[in-house]
Amino acid sequence: MSDIILETKGLTKHYGGVHALEDADFVLKNGEHVAIMGDNGAGKSTFVRQITGVEQRTRGTVTFDGNDVNFAGPLDAREAGIETVFQTLALADDLNVPDNLFLGREKTKFNFLGPFRVLDYKAMREDTMAGLEKTGVKIPNIRNTIANMSGGQRQCVAIARTATFASKLTIMDEPTAALGVQETEQVENIIRTLKKQGESLILVSHNMRQVFDLVDRIIVFRRGRIVANLNKDETDGQDVVAYITGAKTGAEYEGAA
Ligand SMILES: Nc1ncnc2c1ncn2[C@@H]1O[C@H](COP(=O)(O)OP(=O)(O)O)[C@@H](O)[C@H]1O
Ligand SMILES: [Mg+2]
Repeated sequence: MSDIILETKGLTKHYGGVHALEDADFVLKNGEHVAIMGDNGAGKSTFVRQITGVEQRTRGTVTFDGNDVNFAGPLDAREAGIETVFQTLALADDLNVPDNLFLGREKTKFNFLGPFRVLDYKAMREDTMAGLEKTGVKIPNIRNTIANMSGGQRQCVAIARTATFASKLTIMDEPTAALGVQETEQVENIIRTLKKQGESLILVSHNMRQVFDLVDRIIVFRRGRIVANLNKDETDGQDVVAYITGAKTGAEYEGAA
């Protein structure tokens, strides 16, 4: 078995004349935690969307867990084992917490009164509570609809969703950008748990401290291109900023170390 969980080659996305993502060659090993950094508009979210099937790429290939993939949508990606927290939250406002967690993979049970299987709300509530407890996320009442929750609580639900289901790869696009200090800590603890469990992670983040605390490797995007692939132990914040701003170039991405 290959020790590579995700590989993109020449991954490119153009929106009309906007070259949002250009020729991204990227490799992620099993169990590795990698950060993606870069200025606003550098192409980070576009990269995530092409991998997870939210959009159809202009060209390039994505290999996930040994297979060439071209997901039709995020649910397809999730079914294959990729859990994603998108920058713009993909939660359903009018659903409560368990319904959001199990959206697209509802639990059912046998219905003794008729020929059909029915939704098993009790099991889903219990799994939700267990998932939230595992992540340390505190939600006063999981039966409340998402619409009534604060931005931080909503984000925590989205993150609990990724931590509740065993997956092969977790992608978080700026998960703590809108969170307070405590919520940010909770999310960082979830990420540490994922690391201990051997799950692979891509973390898009602007937070230098967080990145250096959590990941093994840092990828820098600039103007749609990957411009640096840095081992955390061989770089520092100043160095990373220099690549982000374009003051430094030349550590062209060369695949996995
Ligand atoms: N749906 C879209 N249509 C047109 N341009 C887009 C679209 N989505 C993103 N872009 C452009 O692509 C570039 C990269 O955006 P994005 O991936 O969101 O950057 P980042 O996540 O690094 O801030 C930006 O110039 C942005 O304006
Ligand atoms: Mg973005």
